Amino acid sequence: MKIAVFKETRQGENRVALSPQVCASLQKMGFEVWVEKDAGISAHFTNEMYEQAGAVLKSSSEILNADIFVQINVPKIEQIQSIPDGKTWISSLYFRTNPEVIEAFSKKNISAVSLDAIPRISRAQSMDILSSQANLAGYRAVIEGAYHLDKIFPMLMTAAGTVTPSKVLIFGVGVAGLQAIATAKRLGAVVEATDVRPETKEQVQSLGGKFIEVKGVEVGSEGGYAKEASEEYRKAQREAVNKSLAQADLVITTALVPGRKAPILIDDEQLALMKTGAVLIDMAAEQGGNCTQTKMGEIIHVNGVKLVGSVNLPSALSANASELFARNIWELLKLMGPKGEMTFDMNDEIVQGCLISHQGKTLHTA
Ligand code: NAI
Repeated sequence: MKIAVFKETRQGENRVALSPQVCASLQKMGFEVWVEKDAGISAHFTNEMYEQAGAVLKSSSEILNADIFVQINVPKIEQIQSIPDGKTWISSLYFRTNPEVIEAFSKKNISAVSLDAIPRISRAQSMDILSSQANLAGYRAVIEGAYHLDKIFPMLMTAAGTVTPSKVLIFGVGVAGLQAIATAKRLGAVVEATDVRPETKEQVQSLGGKFIEVKGVEVGSEGGYAKEASEEYRKAQREAVNKSLAQADLVITTALVPGRKAPILIDDEQLALMKTGAVLIDMAAEQGGNCTQTKMGEIIHVNGVKLVGSVNLPSALSANASELFARNIWELLKLMGPKGEMTFDMNDEIVQGCLISHQGKTLHTA
């Protein structure tokens, strides 16, 4: 079968879904690989690198003759309309928030695989784009925070006196939060973190951070993900974190609840507690933001605090992000196309989780 990778059309997107290395591996599996011309340029994969890896370069119209289509971002309806009926599509789809996209696939009898819906089970770890991309995003958030901050991270003892280390506070200790803690620690900051899931306490401590516990109220989790926190929890969380928030130089928020708007963790009153010169990187900006004042894709100043509404941080690390994304797809295809042909084993938990449209039917709805 012919597998094709598109050049991403989302504004500001530098990643590409298949790397030259993975193109070569897919051919060994029996696929013929087509690459839209210039698809990898922003990730520093040239057309020549793909050709050397055995892939065939195609124009944006020629590529539509492939059998399987892969890209990173959720497609626009017009893009789905341009794909011939009965083919296979693989990308992020976020089906809970994009029902019209899934309907468009079903109507065209396209088998649509939603990479963000791969179950968070051990066997699927190597296929997990949410983890591979969030990991890099967590790193990048700290680097951007360090860049925006008018201070250094580590303690510095000089002849002119001692500089105290910066304090970093992280909300949400999932994949991105853990990498943010590790990165901030490596740079010498003093790190605190909090999360609704109590099991994250040990993870924070093992990275050398201090865990801020919200006592007395439980939120719970489902399939490893946080549930939505109650107003009661929110109140207790405010009380637990406000002292640290007032002392923090850099705050990074990463909290998400699947299929919902991001929870508000820093309201106007809390923002007013923050020091002048502090920086807040809101990694949840695309899902509505963890701070009431966040503006997606913008940097604003509120009472001396620099508030960064981050968008698509993995794209800023396009070389690594594309490599890992491509390997995630390769691992998935070892399961779904081991002999260069797509086969969907409907009894497999991973297939059940991420195959959203198949044989003209929508298999998952919000
Ligand atoms: P996420 O991106 O959905 O959320 C980020 C973090 O925000 C989570 O740790 C969540 O608990 C926290 N959060 C949500 N609401 C909050 C609130 N009101 N206050 C404070 N924190 C809040 O999470 P991510 O990074 O996708 O990880 C979700 C889970 O999946 C984790 O348990 C992780 O360990 C697990 N996981 C499992 C994998 C596997 O076994 N294949 C792979 C990757 C992650």
